[in-house]
Amino acid sequence: MEVGCFRHMMPSSFWKLMRWLNIGPERKLNAAHTLLRRFIKEMMERRKIKTGQVNNDDEEEGVDIVSSFLDDPYYANDDLFRAIIIGYMLAARDTVGTALTWIFYCLAQNPNIVSIMRNELSPIASHKVVAGVGTMVIFEPAETKSLAYVRAVLMEGIWGKDCLDYNPDRWLSKDRNSLRYVPSHKFLAFNSGPRMCLGKDIAVMQMMTVVASTLWNFDVHLLEGQSIEPKASCILEMKNGLMVKLKKRDV
Ligand code: HEM
Repeated sequence: MEVGCFRHMMPSSFWKLMRWLNIGPERKLNAAHTLLRRFIKEMMERRKIKTGQVNNDDEEEGVDIVSSFLDDPYYANDDLFRAIIIGYMLAARDTVGTALTWIFYCLAQNPNIVSIMRNELSPIASHKVVAGVGTMVIFEPAETKSLAYVRAVLMEGIWGKDCLDYNPDRWLSKDRNSLRYVPSHKFLAFNSGPRMCLGKDIAVMQMMTVVASTLWNFDVHLLEGQSIEPKASCILEMKNGLMVKLKKRDV
């Protein structure tokens, strides 16, 4: 991601020369590519061995994206498959992780907004059967899909202009029960037009379930004394990460 940002800022002849000489950030990228390819190769081989094995009933089988691709004959070509996994890791992992970090950072400083979100989650949570004391309530994608306020909070977390004024209400309709229509060219976090993010719906679904489940089960407090600033990169991740304390709520 960092090197991608560097390439955007430099004339292409400059970074191409660096790539040819294998120096500076291009050397770093080359090393990262080698490591990533090795990691994916090992991961694919492990999954292939596992798929070929007879299932042991005692071992709980998880569903993971690599195994589901391996089962599909369309992705039988290893190079295509590797490219898809790299694309998925770069496009889907750091973007969602970074967006969630900033969202929790904003929410930890706005308890009034957290209360409104919990009010919206409350009718869904009340229908869930909790297994025992201390057990967490987990919200499924189908349950969070229609939650206008939680969705407005997500949009507010990745908004650009006047983002310092934290106000999820700007995304709601006048009656505050649904989202206001905002064309993609006015909300550019996922880009617009032919290069628009293909994973937008997956990203929103993932973030809704994480934000809803975390805030319902925990109070999020920022640890004092940390320096919060964005890193100069394409996705503006937090330079030093975010340290929070989670306190289990009695619900
Ligand atoms: C908060 C999360 C995310 C944000 C803010 C985001 C944002 C973006 C943006 C701005 C682009 C356009 C990049 C360009 O113009 O070069 C893009 C492209 C893309 N994104 Fe995302 N993204 C997110 C999550 C995801 C996820 C979860 C996936 C996959 C499951 C994904 C898959 C892709 C793909 C495949 C492209 C390339 C589209 C193309 O050029 O045809 N993204 N994303």
